[in-house]
Amino acid sequence: MDNTTEKKKIVLSAIQPTGTPTLGNYLGALKNWKNMSKDYNCLYAVADLHSLTVRPEPQDLRRRTQEMYAILLALGLDPQENTVFIQSHVPMHSELAWILNCSTQFGEAARMTQFKDKSEKHPENVNVGLFTYPVLMAADILLYQADYVPIGADQKQHLEITRDIAERFNNVYGNTFKIPEPFIGKVGACVMSLQDPMHKMSKSDPNPKSYISMLDDDNVIVKKIKSAVTDSEAVVRYGEGKDGINNLMGIYSCCTGKTFPEIEKEFDGKGYGDFKQAVAEAVVAELRPFKEEYNRLINDKAYLAECAKLGAEKASRIAIRTLSKAQKKAGLFQI
Ligand code: TYM
Repeated sequence: MDNTTEKKKIVLSAIQPTGTPTLGNYLGALKNWKNMSKDYNCLYAVADLHSLTVRPEPQDLRRRTQEMYAILLALGLDPQENTVFIQSHVPMHSELAWILNCSTQFGEAARMTQFKDKSEKHPENVNVGLFTYPVLMAADILLYQADYVPIGADQKQHLEITRDIAERFNNVYGNTFKIPEPFIGKVGACVMSLQDPMHKMSKSDPNPKSYISMLDDDNVIVKKIKSAVTDSEAVVRYGEGKDGINNLMGIYSCCTGKTFPEIEKEFDGKGYGDFKQAVAEAVVAELRPFKEEYNRLINDKAYLAECAKLGAEKASRIAIRTLSKAQKKAGLFQI
């Protein structure tokens, strides 16, 4: 590690391998991961342990973990410069999670909205992993002494509990963990469903027209955006009661860098048909280089394995230092 790398602030984030990520994952998180990769010391993980909470088929989990790893590299992340790894390859995550479980109150974990939502949606499998999910996430972040965590708005509460757990541990045992800050983009932090713009775009939505997958074909992207729910006003402007148009404006803004007033001006006097066409073209252009790179990488399994191994080694070197520090502070006898 040279001096400049050492001085760079640390960024950590992760994504679950629960399916091909959506445009929501991309604009809310992954695009920022790529943007931050030059100026920060970045660690990005495929959170496969978190995915076990929804009990995926073992062969699906294995395949999706590899695919998600290829997706991260296809964003343009350099596995030499950044640390791109698979969570379960670094056992310190689970070890620190146990220690942090003992610094987390039952009541605060029970307040997590994601836990409440998921338990309501899947009453047949309310497992303890689902309950302690945010504690493992806290371990992911705190192990690397991260300064910033680029996430979408739906993960903000998990970042808050991470900060609370870290502060509590520091207060009880002495300064051990850096208190991380969330990094949530102004636009794109919550991309909404194309069919029901009151709800967030999600890869687990049963209606595939509601989300754009990052690997959808160009013509599928165009069709989905053209069938997006809007309103009857037929004026492209950001405003109350216009959730569908607001969402498309957010997407267009993220892909083109244009501000909302600039977009309103561009489509002044034009209908939703023209606007949707422009949004579709912008999304297609945004995702095209990524898709080409993904299709190349997914066929190079040896290269992916080599990069994952390197990522695990780099991550482990940092993780072991923080884990040992936490173990020592908590009074675990070390030899
Ligand atoms: P996950 O896998 O659900 O999503 C990955 C990232 O995508 C963001 N996101 C969205 N952003 C905007 N609009 C949307 N519709 C949308 N849907 C998802 C999420 O906010 C997230 O940033 N618990 C995490 C994974 C995780 C993690 C971590 C994140 C595990 N350990 C440590 C940060 C740090 C999750 O389930 O993300």
